[in-house]
Amino acid sequence: MANLWVRKPIATLQAEAKEGEFGSGPGETQLRRTLSLWSLVALGIGCIIGAGIFVLTGHAAAAHAGPAVCLSFVLAGLVCVFAGLCYAEMASTVPIAGSAYTYAYATMGEFIAWVTGWNLILEYAFGATTVAIGWSGYVVSFLRDLGVVIPAEFALGPLAYDPASRSWSPTGALVNLPAVFIVVAVTILLVTGIKESAKVNNIIVVIKLAIVVLFILAGVWFVKTSNWVTASNPTGTFIPPNIGPGQYGWSGIIRGAGVVFFAYIGFDAVSTAAQEARNPQRDMPLGILGSLAICTLLYVLVSLVITGIVPFDRLNVPDPIALGADAIGFGWLASIIKLGAILGLSSVVLVLLLGQPRILYSMARDGLLPPFAAIVHPRFRTPYVTTLITGAIVAVLAGLLPIGLVGELVSIGTLFAFAVVCLGVLVLRITDPEIHRPFKTPAVFAVAPLGAASAVFLMLGLPGDTWLRLVVWLAIGLAIYFLYGRNHSHMARRQDGGEAGH
Ligand code: ALA
Repeated sequence: MANLWVRKPIATLQAEAKEGEFGSGPGETQLRRTLSLWSLVALGIGCIIGAGIFVLTGHAAAAHAGPAVCLSFVLAGLVCVFAGLCYAEMASTVPIAGSAYTYAYATMGEFIAWVTGWNLILEYAFGATTVAIGWSGYVVSFLRDLGVVIPAEFALGPLAYDPASRSWSPTGALVNLPAVFIVVAVTILLVTGIKESAKVNNIIVVIKLAIVVLFILAGVWFVKTSNWVTASNPTGTFIPPNIGPGQYGWSGIIRGAGVVFFAYIGFDAVSTAAQEARNPQRDMPLGILGSLAICTLLYVLVSLVITGIVPFDRLNVPDPIALGADAIGFGWLASIIKLGAILGLSSVVLVLLLGQPRILYSMARDGLLPPFAAIVHPRFRTPYVTTLITGAIVAVLAGLLPIGLVGELVSIGTLFAFAVVCLGVLVLRITDPEIHRPFKTPAVFAVAPLGAASAVFLMLGLPGDTWLRLVVWLAIGLAIYFLYGRNHSHMARRQDGGEAGH
């Protein structure tokens, strides 16, 4: 049985990345290296711009930060830049599909790697669930505008959950069919090939970027500071006066950062495609940091424009950006924005459902999950078994769960991975100072601890019952590890054979 802290030697990982091959048996096929730099940046943007900017911005401005919601975006962006720099170093040094899971295996050992991989399921599978439910909301409303009504029984899951009062109520509906539909459609695309999936993503990203830029260009002429004046901000200051914990003032900006953090989730998904990148060592850092930089800039501009054209107390609606376009008299733009949101959310679902199977694939290759999960399709060269399993589970969850329940779990799982990656970079600098690092995190001894500390800080701001769900989730993960993974781990076998590197 493996030592819980056994590390996967960097040399082994680098060899795997070079060959694209590990523990190969008869009939085992490799992933295909087809992704260009642009495709990687587009994967990042495809996963980042989604429900966060199109939906949550309004709530964060109305309930927490007012016009200063752009500072919430700057703060959340800063946390992501720290983590993004650390991801960039790890992804260029160890370009393997498993993302934070693989980095943890190389730096903090098998046990932390398992916990990280298990928590990444919260980010990817539950993230896809959340966004698929949001997609359904937008589609149902868009179709209704066109006169097509989806029957209420099939437009929602059976239960609603209100995160504010933490209470459940029946919706009277049976299943959220549009949410199931988008998950099934994306899963089929993902099975058929990484190149095909990236192509669809590239097209969606161009359209969604164009729509966001159009909104900024159209709206900027109508920005008036008189719109900052509301009942709770009678003097119209940029940062409204604090009226309670997390309600305006600096505490509201920080709470708002916790909310809009969701909008940044996804830049790290670039790292899950490391084994399919043509030139991972150069392109991983550029893909991760490039997509993050573009989206941060757009988010700050969108949030400045939206709070400058609509008083923030009116923004607590499911479609605040479309509301903004309506407010400046551009009704046609509002419909285009709704369409952009639908497309935008589709690509988020696509990239999250692309990332999850690749992480499971890496875990199976290490023996921590059963070997069937590492099977790659001989023709499509995709990890199709894990893609289908992920798709089936996410389709069921998206059809049945309420959106309020899953969103915060996604953030806590992602922040956990960020903290692990930031600490991992530091550990590796100390334990293996001499290995080749194509990209080095600048000022790593400041950036990495700041990244880990700020991720933990945002985690601490999440509600107690989200923590409780995290603990239950971890307990299930630990049971699986001790019943299966620990006994089947390849590193354990090597260690028993006296070969372990550390
Ligand atoms: N960042 C992604 C979104 O906002 C998860 O939808």
